[in-house]
Amino acid sequence: MILRGTIVTTTELGKLTCLPGGCLRLDEQGTVLECLPELPGGQEPVTDYGDRLILQSFSDLHLHGPQFPQVGMGMDLPLLDWLNTYTFPLEARFADLNYARSVYERLAKALIDGGTTRVAMFSSLHTDATLVLMEELERAGVTGYVGKVNMDRNGGVNLQETTEESKRETLRWLESCQQFRHIQPILTPRFTPSCTDELMAWLGNLAQERGLPVQSHLSENDAEIAWVRELHPDCAQYWETYHKYGLWVPRTLMAHCVHSDRRERTAMRDHGVTVVHCADSNLNLCSGTAPVRQLLQEGVNVVLGSDIAGGAQLFMPQVMTASIRASKIRAMTHGDAPLSAAEGYYLGTTAGQQFFGAAPGFGVGEKLHAVVVDDSRFAMDPKRTPEERLERALYQMEPADIVAVWSDGRKVK
Ligand code: GUN
Ligand code: FE
Repeated sequence: MILRGTIVTTTELGKLTCLPGGCLRLDEQGTVLECLPELPGGQEPVTDYGDRLILQSFSDLHLHGPQFPQVGMGMDLPLLDWLNTYTFPLEARFADLNYARSVYERLAKALIDGGTTRVAMFSSLHTDATLVLMEELERAGVTGYVGKVNMDRNGGVNLQETTEESKRETLRWLESCQQFRHIQPILTPRFTPSCTDELMAWLGNLAQERGLPVQSHLSENDAEIAWVRELHPDCAQYWETYHKYGLWVPRTLMAHCVHSDRRERTAMRDHGVTVVHCADSNLNLCSGTAPVRQLLQEGVNVVLGSDIAGGAQLFMPQVMTASIRASKIRAMTHGDAPLSAAEGYYLGTTAGQQFFGAAPGFGVGEKLHAVVVDDSRFAMDPKRTPEERLERALYQMEPADIVAVWSDGRKVK
């Protein structure tokens, strides 16, 4: 089968490859066989998208499923007060499986509608609601990782497990989620203040024994960093509280890293840890602007996250443009070179897919992850280049402009 349209991919930071009238040749399973500049001869059926854009689909490597009902509200407080006042009471409601089902069904649909086909997501601490989340994502066609959150301290009465419960429920969850094909488990100590040393050590062992990936939060906010310093006077820096327990490995995703200095960034690079940049959240919660340009120049892996609901945009093109906007604030305050549109697109697509071991762009031999965008509503000028159309699409498109989505070789919208 052949898909035809204006293909725009990015295999290298800041570089676009554009094929107007380009073709993707797929096998029956949706595996990419070839990416061609024009229609090949032969009898294969062609789905012709005309002048529409065929783009890589999006990767959101940090979001909180149970915070979806709170998107766009309650952002008048800094991180720790925001967690205690709004977020923890909301997450506690996911003990109710009917509530969980109704939220997660809508979230899964919104992700696919918006062209997000790969995620790394936090659930809540509830095992059964986490299984519901995994089921709904799998059903909608989303791929990637979901984590049952571990928190055995500082969650208040309604959102806290005992250490024993946390271990037992983590094992029960890992046992129960083997049924899923496209959604895999990721260990998720919420952040250092939420987990006792005993639980962190146990999770570190488990990650190593089973080769599981890990996700958490790092150096997001000044008060949080000061608290971690009090909790771990033996650690010079926040990252060492994860490293100490074997949670600082190449399969680790660390969200935010707004205040990571050169020493912390070097530790990321040397250990292959991936930073999830969540620009909109960092602005909403007044956390700061992350040193994205330095991270990139120093060779750290950087990907993007919506961080729903610290972030208020689930739709990844808006996450990409928020990152570009935040990089301009950083340019004005720190003199760092801002991100270009091509760089934003790369961070929200290829950088994310590489965390899952996929090749950049539309890799030959890979299952197709793509979106088809009808930009006729806002394109306006037929003489625009594909590069110009991509930039305009990132800033102007809405989920309704995405006319088709492919995830792991399957057409899911
Ligand atoms: N740190 C610990 N938990 C959270 C959370 O839910 N959101 C954000 N942005 N930071 C956190
Ligand atoms: Fe977060």
